[in-house]
Order: sequence, then C-alpha cells, then structure tokens
Amino acid sequence: MNTTAEKIEALRALKKKLLDGQDSAKIAKRHESGKYTARERIEKLLDPGTFRETDAFARHRCYDFGMDKQRPEGDGVITGYGKVNGRLVYVFSQDFMVFGGSLGEVFAEKICKIMDMAIQNGAPVIGINDSGGARIQEGVVSLGGYAEIFYRNVLSSGVVPQISAIMGPCAGGAVYSPALTDFIMMVDKGSHMFITGPEVIKSVTREEVTFEELGGAITHNSKSGVANMMAASEDDAFEQIRHLLSFLPANNMEDPPFAPSDDPADRMDAELNTLIPDDPNRPYDMRDVVRHIVDHGEFFEIQPMWGANLIVGFSRLGGRVIGVVGNQPAYLAGCLDVDASIKGARFVRFCDAFNIPLLTFVDVPGFLPGTSQEYAGIIRNGAKLLYAYCEATVPKLTVITRKAYGGAYDVMCSKHIRSDFNVAWPTAEIAVMGAEGAVNIIFRRELSQHADPAKRRIELVETYRDKFASPYIAAERGYIDDVIEPQETRPRLIEALEACANKRERHPPRKHCNMPL
Ligand code: HXC
Repeated sequence: MNTTAEKIEALRALKKKLLDGQDSAKIAKRHESGKYTARERIEKLLDPGTFRETDAFARHRCYDFGMDKQRPEGDGVITGYGKVNGRLVYVFSQDFMVFGGSLGEVFAEKICKIMDMAIQNGAPVIGINDSGGARIQEGVVSLGGYAEIFYRNVLSSGVVPQISAIMGPCAGGAVYSPALTDFIMMVDKGSHMFITGPEVIKSVTREEVTFEELGGAITHNSKSGVANMMAASEDDAFEQIRHLLSFLPANNMEDPPFAPSDDPADRMDAELNTLIPDDPNRPYDMRDVVRHIVDHGEFFEIQPMWGANLIVGFSRLGGRVIGVVGNQPAYLAGCLDVDASIKGARFVRFCDAFNIPLLTFVDVPGFLPGTSQEYAGIIRNGAKLLYAYCEATVPKLTVITRKAYGGAYDVMCSKHIRSDFNVAWPTAEIAVMGAEGAVNIIFRRELSQHADPAKRRIELVETYRDKFASPYIAAERGYIDDVIEPQETRPRLIEALEACANKRERHPPRKHCNMPL
C-alpha cells in the first residue's frame, strides 16, 4: 500500500510525463518546418500561465489494427481553457504528432466537452486544426465524433464567438467544423483545406493541382472566400487572433469590450474635406476614410483579399467597438458583386449576433453588370446583404461619401431598412443611376432626333447631375438625417453611437428566418 506522499509523487511524475513525453527529435523536426507543437501553440495563444488542461488522461478505446499497443494519454488533442488579455476562452489544439492528429471517439469527446463548457459559461472557442482527418482505425465512430462537433458548432453559432486556426492539414469532411465557425485563420504555406486532395482530383477529373494551389491559405483567402484571415507565420496567427478577440464580446448576452480612448471624441479631421476627388469617376481608398475617423486610425480588416470591392472589419469609435462595412471605390469602382455581397452579409450577421453596432460607408455605383454575375446568382447573393442589413437590430450608422445609386443605395444600410443615423457628405450623389446612364434612357428619343446629339447629351447630363446627383433631394425627404462636412464625421458618429446605445428593436416572433442561401 503506497503512502499518500507516494501517491502524490506518482501523480507529479505522471503529469511531468504528460508534459514532457514527446519525442524530442520529432519536435525538432517540427520546429525546423516553422511549426510549433500542439502544446506550444496553446501557450503562444494564451496569456502566460493561464492554461488549465482538461482530460489529459483520456485515452482511446480502440483495440483494432494494433491500436491497443499505443494508447497515449490525451489521445492527440490538447483541450482546456485559459485567458486572452485576461478574458476566458476555451481552446483545443490537435496534435499532429499523435496518430497524425486524426480524430477518433475520445478525441471528439474531449473537444465536445470544452465546446459544451464554452456554451454554458459563455466564452469563445478557439480550435487549432492540424489533422489527417477521421482516424481510419476507428471507422464510423470517428465520423460520429465529427458530427457531434458539427452539431455543437451550430448550437454555439451566434452564442459564443468561434475561431478556427488552420495550422496543418484539414481535409475531407473535417473542413466542416471550421466552416461552421465565425472566422477561419490560415497560416500561409503551413495549412491546407480541401474536400478531396490532389490525387483524388487527378484520378477523377485528370486535373493536376498542387496542395498549395488547391487549398492553401492564399487560395482560400483570395479565391474561394472560405478563409477570412491569413497569417505569415504561426506567431503572426496567434497575434491576429488575440487582436481579433479584443473586439469581441465573450458571448451574445454581453456588449463588446469598451476600451477608453484618448483620441478626442470631438476631433475634427480637415484632411477628410479633401479626400474625395473632384472627378466623380476617380477612385480613392475607403480605408483612408475609415482610418481618419475611427479611434487612433485602428482598423482591423477581415478578409481583405476576397470581395475587395467591399471592406469589412472592426474598429472603435469613442472606445466603443464597431463593425465597419464600406464600398471600396479603389476596386471595381466599389460595385457590389456576388463575393462582396456574401462577405458583407456574413460580417453584418456576425456583428448583429454579437451586439456590435454597424457603421457603413457608402460609395456604390450599383451592382456589377455582366453575365458572369447574373449566372453566379447576383440576385440571390445580393439579396443576402440586403437581408442581413434588414435583419440587423444593432445600432446602424450610415455615411454616404459619394455615389449611392439604385438598388445598392437601398441595400447599403439606407434609412428605409431601419438605419438609425444616416448622413451624407456634400459630395454625395443619391439617385437611381449615374447621370450618363439616366440621360441615355430617359432622353433616348430626343437624342436620336437631335441635330447635335453629342452636345445635347452633355447639356442633359449636366442638368441631371445638378438636379439629382446630390444629397439634397434625399435630405428633403428625410432619407438622410443631415448633410455634414466630412471633417465633422467623427464627432457626429460618436454622438450618434451614444444616442443609440440603449436601442431596443424587436422583430415578430418566428422559428427562424429563411434568408436566401
Ligand atoms: C489515422 C493517420 C491519419 C488518419 C495520418 N495518420 N492520417 N492515422 N488516421 N486519418 C498517421 C499516419 O499513419 C502517420 O503515422 C502519421 O499520422 C503521420 O502521417 P504521414 O502520412 O506520415 O504525414 P505526412 O506525410 O505529413 O502526410 C499528412 C497527411 C497524410 C497528408 C495528412 O497523413 C494523409 O493523407 N492522411 C490521410 C488523410 C485522409 O485521407 N484522412 C481521411 C479523410 S476523410 P505514423 O505512425 O507512421 O507516424 C475524413 C472524413 C471526415 O477525414 C468526415 C467527417 C464527416
């Protein structure tokens, strides 16, 4: 019979083995390839010394294919909770060095346990993915484990923020857990996501493609839109995730964290008065507008490489977190297309779910014309952004900087879809369409019969522009609350945000909405 002291000593030895038990040669190889171990990743992500591990003793229950001879503690995933900037988060980190990070029954149970705790206690979940997928030796039990996680991803959606960091392979059905989360961060050259790999693709379609081209970080951040964040290294990824978390509430019952700012609330910015070019067809970067207005110019952009004609990201105004959406005149003239609409809709819905007020900057000449857009379903996809804005009940503030044409005017958080504060700069052009297009339609007959149609067209365009390409008709109707000087935008927005701080808006009860998908 061992004494209590001996039992405690044995426990200490066991815990030491759990922490130090990995093959040092394998660890060195990982470090050489720019990768941290699963445990190191958690340490990098969390505040030092805050990690509390759960289920470190858990072991798989599979006895086939010689698995009974290898039953490592932890079963290939490290789970638990800790703090980021002093705030509670739940975390799991898949360990590629144990059965290739493959997911079996116990592995899944460990993840499910912390997901349940996260929902119950109202804190974000961060999943670090680095896995060969379903553990082949465990067969259908692995598939069941995945589905248990997927189910919890859906239960957690809109309740606690969910962030996926992809730091190795993530393939097959395994991609659907990250896909159900709010943000997917991929490490450049260090991560892959795909449903079927290059070899299967080659055998089925004869198409040849590399892992990187098929499912690397650049592909998913710029082509598919699957990922919305990219990091140059694992360290960079953890830094970005920590920064992202600083804007998010722990759950949907909380407000996002207030961070008092020494950037004066009444700061006027004279440079804004010269930012819009005199020529309405000349581009400018909407990010410059945002940076001149928000606290200390801090704009944490999400998904900058996909749907670049719309910018989305987090900032603060007077210390309050805001979700910024803006048309980007520097890319595709700021038109709305399929990708931009999907990107915007998803961001707006995230902000609404987590009590983050929306600030929209409008400079949009309309929806992007063309068969490629129509065939890709711009009607269905554009409706997503419209739907998301209509549905959002958080405070909504809108600044029209220049063009607000046609249906896109309505979509971009107009007064009619219950924006709370709508202002326009004097450079705004709020109309059904641009002057040239309008004149070509409504004066077609007159121009076709005119002795000098070119000269007459110029006159008509001028007349139309003077009459309609301004903010004043919309202001006359109350569609915008005021026309303001660009330089006063920051103080006016901060006042408006304060005024809406206790906003309460409810929609009729229903089981769930049926937004166009
Ligand atoms: C069990 C696995 C495994 C898996 C890898 N390993 N994947 N063990 N189940 N799914 C083990 C390997 O046997 C090896 O063990 C160790 O992990 C490292 O694997 P390597 O192949 O040596 O590493 P590497 O060359 O880096 O290749 C990594 C890889 C490759 C690209 C991920 O291992 C691979 O293709 N694995 C299979 C991927 C796959 O098809 N998974 C199923 C997808 S379908 P030893 O002992 O030699 O170190 C799926 C369905 C999910 O996941 C459905 C959800 C609904």
